[in-house]
Amino acid sequence: MQKGKCITIDGIDGAGKSTQIDFICAYLKTRNINVVLTREPGGTEIGEKIRKLLLGSATKMHDETELMLMFAARNEHIQNKIIPTLANGDWVLSDRFTDASYAYQGGGRGISVERIAELESWVLQDFAPDMTLLLDVDVEIGMQRVVSRGQKGRIEQEDSRFFNRVRDAYIARSQKFPERIKLIDASQDVENISNQIQKVLATL
Ligand SMILES: Nc1ncnc2c1ncn2[C@@H]1O[C@H](COP(=O)(O)OP(=O)(O)OP(=O)(O)O)[C@@H](O)[C@H]1O
Ligand SMILES: [Mg+2]
Repeated sequence: MQKGKCITIDGIDGAGKSTQIDFICAYLKTRNINVVLTREPGGTEIGEKIRKLLLGSATKMHDETELMLMFAARNEHIQNKIIPTLANGDWVLSDRFTDASYAYQGGGRGISVERIAELESWVLQDFAPDMTLLLDVDVEIGMQRVVSRGQKGRIEQEDSRFFNRVRDAYIARSQKFPERIKLIDASQDVENISNQIQKVLATL
């Protein structure tokens, strides 16, 4: 039975998710909330192994294999980490979640929403995050922010057209679920973004 709350943070590469996660953890601690930080793909021993397959190697992978591996890792994550953590009364903060599959494998790769929804209803059943922070930023800005990181992973190597489709799919998700998904203007400076996030978190 869920007692804690589940927050997910999503958005294109370089939107500033990792940067804001530090702020969110610190903010929740000031409210005496125990938060378990996790990420997708990954967050469990098996999930992190799947992450290496998905993001690390440059080997070509069929688009639907990519989608199914994402959901395989997610199943492990939900069953063995997210649900037990919430049942324990702690909160979960996940760096990416199911919306990323709609954005990257859906918008980016072109797999249909219906196809992804089949896996979502199988793996998530009636689970949904309590709140999703969608950090929205121009693809060019996001790409500029990540260049400094050096060698790119398998998905990061895609071009700006790919990431524009990903961004559009994220925005479509936020329009479909306006209650859950809070659109944050991530083109601003770090402090301004943190202020926007604090305002929506306060409503939880
Ligand atoms: N609002 C901001 N303005 C300018 N630079 C920023 C901002 N937020 C983050 N950065 C910088 O941009 C880079 C990418 O940020 P960050 O790692 O937080 O993004 P991310 O969304 O976690 O990316 P990824 O999806 O690749 O993990 C970092 O070097 C970070 O310091
Ligand atoms: Mg990050």
